[in-house]
Order: sequence, then structure tokens, then C-alpha cells
Amino acid sequence: MLEVRNLSKSFGGLKAVGDLSMSVAQGEFVGVIGPNGAGKTTVMNLVTGYMRPSSGDVLFEGKSLVGLAPYKISHRGVGRTFQVVRPFSEMSVEDNVMTGALFSGSRTNNLSKARKAAQLPMELTGLTHKRNMHAGALTLGEKKKLELARALATEPRLLLLDEVMGGVTRGEVDDLMVVLQRIHASGVTIVMIEHLVEVIMALSKRVVVLNFGQKLFEGTPADVVQHPAVIESYLGRSLEADAA
Ligand SMILES: Nc1ncnc2c1ncn2[C@@H]1O[C@H](COP(=O)(O)OP(=O)(O)OP(=O)(O)O)[C@@H](O)[C@H]1O
Ligand SMILES: [Mg+2]
Repeated sequence: MLEVRNLSKSFGGLKAVGDLSMSVAQGEFVGVIGPNGAGKTTVMNLVTGYMRPSSGDVLFEGKSLVGLAPYKISHRGVGRTFQVVRPFSEMSVEDNVMTGALFSGSRTNNLSKARKAAQLPMELTGLTHKRNMHAGALTLGEKKKLELARALATEPRLLLLDEVMGGVTRGEVDDLMVVLQRIHASGVTIVMIEHLVEVIMALSKRVVVLNFGQKLFEGTPADVVQHPAVIESYLGRSLEADAA
């Protein structure tokens, strides 16, 4: 479904992503981990058109996405969330989700249609009972759900998630994990960047480990946590940090 081929991105002298190749099959739930600055968000920005690669290609369902504007990539069926959530605070939850539908591939500019299209995403993310609340009044965990709902309203077949669990409470992490399972079960292929190892372990069948913009390792979650280079570059430090 998604094929990243020899992708590179440099910022001046810094190689944020270097000759990265990876692929994702339809129906998969893939985890992406790696230390701060490993290039995870940059890869997502390259795939979704927010940045242009220095070299390499990104194919979605066999067609290149390179050079397309983000909205066009969204129309092709690739959705994303952002590491830092930014809902329209003064607008209701439902109106926020509707903005996703209004910019979706079906290009609805009909408000009642958009409202209709917002219902399933709100259901999947458990936000239906908060539909009339101002988005600004939500907890961070709820804002993350809103970000997911808004992305779902664009009708993605592939959804890229950038640290959905970042900064939320323990209870909200469990809650969001259920939401992600529900979204995946609804038929959406998911690639998830995540720092919380236990979340990756529980949700994904395959994990790609990035370090210095390159693929350090790829395998099942069980393989990954036993791999010496992964433990050294990432897990050891992270688990200590988690425990602290
Ligand atoms: N727009 C930019 N201009 C210059 N350098 C950038 C830019 N975006 C990212 N970088 C650099 O590229 C490298 C990779 O950054 P990136 O944000 O992709 O890492 P990450 O794996 O998402 O990290 P984190 O876990 O902290 O979110 C870092 O060294 C970062 O400082
Ligand atoms: Mg990042």
C-alpha cells in the first residue's frame, strides 16, 4: 500500500533522513520508534507532502506522492495527525470534525453532508457525547481523540499517527489504545510513531526502528525489544526515563 524508496532529506548539512526504504501492506498496524531527532516526524512530513524529499520516492497504491500538495495526498487517502494538536478551540467538537469532512477526498461543501460524515469518526473516537463542547475545553487526551476524528473524517485508507500518546495521562493512554484498535478494526491501515514501548508492543505486529534517519532494525515487537542495538540506542534510555 505504501512504499518508501531510498528516501532522503537534508536540512543544510544535517541528514535528517538517509536512504530510508520501508513498506506497509494494506491492513497492517506498523509501529515506528526511535530516539528524539531520529527523523520520525520528518518521514511523516515527507510522505504527506509537508516537506519535499531531497531524493527518493514515496508510492501510495502504486503511484508517487512526491511533489503533490498535502491536500492532494489527503484526497488520495492518506490521513495524518500532528505531534502537537491544534484544534479550532472556539469551535465545537463536531464542527472541528466536520472540517475534516469538508476537506476530504469527496470534497463535500455541503454542511449537512459534512455533519453526517462527522458522526462515525466521533463514534469511533468516543467523542459523540462531547460533540457540542468547545474543543478548547477538552482534556489533552480528548484533543488527541479529536485530532484522530478530524483525520478520520478525511476518509483515509492509510492513517499516519505522530505520538498520539504524547503527554496524556495513563488512563487516557489506555483509552486511546482502545480507540486505535477500533479505528484499525474499521479497516484503516495504521502507521504509528510512538515513544511508549508498551503501546507499540500491544498494538503493532511490526515495528520499524529509526536512528539517525536510517532504519536500525525492523521486526516483531518481541524481536525489537531483544535486539542489542535497539536496546542500546533507544530502549535502555527510554525505559529508564519512563521509570524516573
Ligand atoms: N524544518 C527543519 N529544519 C531544520 N532541521 C530540522 C527540521 N525538521 C527537523 N529537523 C531536524 O531533523 C532531525 C530529525 O527531526 P524529526 O523531527 O524528524 O525527529 P523525530 O524522530 O520526530 O524526533 P522526536 O521524537 O523528538 O519528535 C532533527 O535533528 C531535527 O532537528
Ligand atoms: Mg517527532
